[in-house]
Amino acid sequence: MNKRALITGISGQDGYYLSKFLVEKGYEVFGLIRRNSNNPFYRFEDNIDLWEKINVIYGNMRDVESLNRALVISKPDEIYNLAALSDVGVSFECPTETMEINYHGVGKLISEAQRLFPKSRFYQASTSEMFGRTNPPQNEESFFLPVSPYAEAKLRAHTDYIVGYRKNHNYYSSSGILFNHESPKRGEKFVTRKITLSLAKVKAGLQNYVQLGNLDAKRDWGFAGDYVEAMWLILQQENPDDYVISTGVSHSVRDFVNISAKVLGMKLTWSGQGENEQATDGEGNVVVKVNPKFYRPNEVHDLLGDSAKAKKILGWEPKTSFEELVEMMVESDKKYAEYLKGLAENR
Ligand SMILES: NC(=O)c1ccc[n+]([C@@H]2O[C@H](COP(=O)([O-])OP(=O)(O)OC[C@H]3O[C@@H](n4cnc5c(N)ncnc54)[C@H](OP(=O)(O)O)[C@@H]3O)[C@@H](O)[C@H]2O)c1
Repeated sequence: MNKRALITGISGQDGYYLSKFLVEKGYEVFGLIRRNSNNPFYRFEDNIDLWEKINVIYGNMRDVESLNRALVISKPDEIYNLAALSDVGVSFECPTETMEINYHGVGKLISEAQRLFPKSRFYQASTSEMFGRTNPPQNEESFFLPVSPYAEAKLRAHTDYIVGYRKNHNYYSSSGILFNHESPKRGEKFVTRKITLSLAKVKAGLQNYVQLGNLDAKRDWGFAGDYVEAMWLILQQENPDDYVISTGVSHSVRDFVNISAKVLGMKLTWSGQGENEQATDGEGNVVVKVNPKFYRPNEVHDLLGDSAKAKKILGWEPKTSFEELVEMMVESDKKYAEYLKGLAENR
């Protein structure tokens, strides 16, 4: 019989890639979707066949009855909890909602899962943001020093519910401590996608420049399509555990801008410093500006993962390089910007 998986957050970036991966493996996939989700379908718009294979269940991480119903309907062998308020910047503005979804929501789901299906396996989307200010490289032994409401809530969920249910309730609960992972399906407000989409729009003549925050922030960026395989591998192990998933290479936001511009055939020249730093294109137009509005109240300066444990135990390694990732995102946004331009011209 086919395995059954329940994915929360299926309308998100990782929900798309994970459902694709599991459907290809022959799983019956159930996806929890918020009734008031903006456009739950939009990440699947270019893959309608996949969307039609997913069993959609409406529910909300804040509503235990809906989680109970989702579990009863899906009868899952594996549960992938991807749902979250996932924008670190927004979490500073909505700390209570962040705690409700990213911490209490996990408690509601895991307690019902353990009660109704004690043999099920639970994957939690933990995050490198939990390491916060800890010096890189970060691995499973590193200290957690979270600096945002997002990271605080994720860390509490990780400790109380994932490690807690594993140790205290003998329940199979594992986590992937994933470093940043991106794709053409990344939300448009996240810095990587903001860069690729904005520069593609600049190139298409749809906007003049992109405004960014801290250009020196460094992240370990991988491809979401590679990372969902690690999620699955984590739940295939005999014993539950936690794994850092990363590429082991970090780049600055400025690096991301430079490679994006190169793929678009734009030659950037940087000048100024701090809030006055900017980049002009070959024709002297300012195409990148710094706006302190996009600085985080408390910034994590450098995240760089060490995934030696995942490599050794899961046999997992990233397949996509940083340059390939940026190129993939830019090429996709180039097409999207051209499409938007066509719409604007035909209006
Ligand atoms: N991408 C990364 O770099 C990264 C790194 C480490 C960890 N993570 C974690 O991995 C998970 C997946 O990330 P992602 O990049 O795919 O995030 P994403 O694109 O922002 O997706 C988040 C998903 O959570 C859903 N959601 C939010 N609040 C909910 C609620 N109250 N009830 C039910 N669903 C809710 C959203 O649904 P709507 O469509 O209704 O908004 C969306 O489907 C998240 O937990 C994130 O925190 C991500």
